[in-house]
Amino acid sequence: MLAELTCALLGWMATAPAGSASGNAMQRSAVKMQSQDELKKLVGYKAVDDYVTSGMVVGLGTGSTAAFAVERVGQKIKSGELTDIVAVPTSVRTKEQAESLGIPLTTLGTPESRYSDLDVAIDGADEVDPQFNLVKGGGGALLREKMVEVCAKKFIVIVDESKLCDGLGPGFPLPVEITPFCWEHTMRTVGNLPSLAGCTAKLRLGSAATGSKVDGEEPAVTDNGNYIVDLFFETAIKDAPKAAEELKNTVGVVEHGLFCGLTSAVIIAGSDGITLKTP
Ligand code: 5RP
Repeated sequence: MLAELTCALLGWMATAPAGSASGNAMQRSAVKMQSQDELKKLVGYKAVDDYVTSGMVVGLGTGSTAAFAVERVGQKIKSGELTDIVAVPTSVRTKEQAESLGIPLTTLGTPESRYSDLDVAIDGADEVDPQFNLVKGGGGALLREKMVEVCAKKFIVIVDESKLCDGLGPGFPLPVEITPFCWEHTMRTVGNLPSLAGCTAKLRLGSAATGSKVDGEEPAVTDNGNYIVDLFFETAIKDAPKAAEELKNTVGVVEHGLFCGLTSAVIIAGSDGITLKTP
């Protein structure tokens, strides 16, 4: 498993565009062989340690990796190392975790959020390609995540190296949040978009938070009361920004899980260390 992960990381680094990723700040530090959870914790803590300082408005992501960043913010507030922090959570789950840790919360558009002027947002991803485009939404929180993350001066993505890929699509189904009204119509329309040719669209069933894993019979419902369609691909999406545009222009689509042009930095934990990559 770890050998496969290392191969994925090396392949991704080899295909990073010259003059961008490969020429940018890259930091490595030796770490011993770690479980996937330990890797997630490493990047979650590092993102907070490196990018969050007192007085900031912080976007808190959703998922098992982001949960470690939330944990770290809570620890540092409790110890007094961080003061005057206000956070915007990207899901009900993250809100509940942050509340339990005593992190002061607000939402977008408030004076406390400086009217949506966030200093930083930290979140995981399901896939990261060499151009720093992401697939997000395995945890069903893509709409709130995107709303918060577009408002941040810096969007820090935290992943273990299993999330790196050469092209988005085949490694993880692309989630699309749609209205329950006429969902079959919207699902079919989305599945037939030219830039998504060849995909298979399936309505997410069961819990919205468990990706395309079917763990129930009823449609999964997001925090916003919508459904999710997961798009399965055999081959990589050729033009992710174009696909994002076509999805966004489809009536009935509320939001999609392609996050293009938003990433400020990716912190990657691998079997051979932590790597920071910037566009
Ligand atoms: C939730 C997300 C998550 O960031 C993404 O699914 C990654 O989750 P994890 O860190 O648990 O692998 O987009 O909607």
